[in-house]
Amino acid sequence: MDIKKMVLQALEQTLKDHWTDTEFTVEKPKNPDFGDYAIPCFHWAKSFKRSPQDIAQQLTPAIHHPLFSKVTAVGPYINVFLDKTYVSKEIIHQIITLKEAFGSNSDGQGSNVTIDLSAPNIAKPFSMGHLRSTVIGNAIANLAEKNGYTPIRINHLGDWGTQFGKLIVAYLKWGSEERVKEQPISELLSLYIKFHDEAEKHPELVDEGRRYFKMLEDGDPQTRYLWNWFREESLQEFFRIYDLLGVSFDHIQGEAFYNDKMDEVVEILNRKGLLELSEGALVVKLDEYDFPPCLIQKSDGATIYATRDLATALFRKRNFDFARSLYVVGSEQSLHFKQVKLALRKADFKWEHEMVHIPFGMMLQDGKKMSTRKGRIVLLEEVLNEAIDLAHQIISEKNPTLENKDEVAKQIGIGAVIFQDLKNFRTNDVDFSFEQMLNFDGETGPYLQYTHARCHSLLRKAGSFIPETSYPITEQEAWIIISHLTRFDEVVKQAWEDYDPSKIARYALDLARHFNSYYAKVRILDSEDRDARLSLVYAVATVIEECLRVLGIKSPPSM
Ligand code: ARG
Repeated sequence: MDIKKMVLQALEQTLKDHWTDTEFTVEKPKNPDFGDYAIPCFHWAKSFKRSPQDIAQQLTPAIHHPLFSKVTAVGPYINVFLDKTYVSKEIIHQIITLKEAFGSNSDGQGSNVTIDLSAPNIAKPFSMGHLRSTVIGNAIANLAEKNGYTPIRINHLGDWGTQFGKLIVAYLKWGSEERVKEQPISELLSLYIKFHDEAEKHPELVDEGRRYFKMLEDGDPQTRYLWNWFREESLQEFFRIYDLLGVSFDHIQGEAFYNDKMDEVVEILNRKGLLELSEGALVVKLDEYDFPPCLIQKSDGATIYATRDLATALFRKRNFDFARSLYVVGSEQSLHFKQVKLALRKADFKWEHEMVHIPFGMMLQDGKKMSTRKGRIVLLEEVLNEAIDLAHQIISEKNPTLENKDEVAKQIGIGAVIFQDLKNFRTNDVDFSFEQMLNFDGETGPYLQYTHARCHSLLRKAGSFIPETSYPITEQEAWIIISHLTRFDEVVKQAWEDYDPSKIARYALDLARHFNSYYAKVRILDSEDRDARLSLVYAVATVIEECLRVLGIKSPPSM
């Protein structure tokens, strides 16, 4: 139920005869004592030729609807109070019948949204930035679906570029097959680092690397074989991480996928007269937008990252006919995406405005970037496994007899990492802390999972209660929960429009907090209102579970 819409409709119905102006809005009063919604009367002053205060006074007595228990005029506002019986019955009924579809809408009418997410680089560790892209992108894809779109998750794997020439040289000189098989990514990374160290003493290595990359581009079988092998080994490691995170992709279309689609880009830009020579390279100038030129082809004929993204954009528009095309990539690439979009705009691809770069901040530990540079290698898989181990310790203490502890520990540990990432607006940096993310009483994933499990434990104690009818819940203590539940539709829309999963995270935290204080005050199982209260418990559990699902987090029924 979109309560705001219901309020608007009810007002429209009841005010039909007095209506001269269709432009009208409702607001949430800052002070809830003033009512659940307020209708500002300022903008009617002209057409009514009266002061907004007078208008509020005049219209108030005309408003009658079962949705409202009280209507008052306060200054230039009409304040309405919702009828608790009516609203609680309605909302609980919706949750019982819609279950996980509660809060969904069909705004997208099934149209496609491509989401570029994760995109780690092969032969390099899966970085914290890629973790953020994976987690944020996945949640945004779920939000797209909840808003009626068809999300298409695409992993734009970094599997092409001059670095592979260097890597192949390094492998042929110093590598060993066994070591790559054993620990592909750390071995390939150290080969890559060794290459750079050696190249400082022997600069001719750089040329050799370039030559090997050229061979790779020209399809030389041995270099192709090695590249493919590195790619496969890396993918296996990445997929272990995706499995842990519970994220999957509709397409793995990495940079190499566009190799045979690059000429067309250069040709189109050329035909439209947009290519200019600059220091031997071909560029699209963006002076009129006050941006540095977009580099299309290097002086040695090699195409680059931007050209690949142009080919990618064309391919995605043709193949998926997207309504929107999202790129969940760190904020350090903002300039790149602006240049790509501007180059497309200059080439007159009108759909360019449907492409959105969704930036995010860094993952920090002790105020420093958690990165792979300069030996500060943080291997993501180890981090995730540590979160799972810590979760295991905590639940073994809290609930020693719990069955399937391993599975639950995984859900809690991973949930903790994901929630820590998503609970604040994405452009903020994330402070990575095991202690904080696993605090069962903090603003954490485990806190939400725990609240959800507590609800289920109540329902189990009541004999696996599943409400069939909805009961009016009028008690004051429950009202804050009910009124929070009525906002879910709105939050789902807003979170999608802003590409902001933290809105769902915050919503779920508030819901859990309201529920836990209700639970501390009110008896449930041995009360006369048992079934009504249990139906509220069921509703809360259902909505927390749905919020967590959208964020990409599991909700174990006991923990
Ligand atoms: N592999 C790139 C990196 O690690 C991210 C790719 C993002 N997607 C894109 N279409 N450019 O920086």
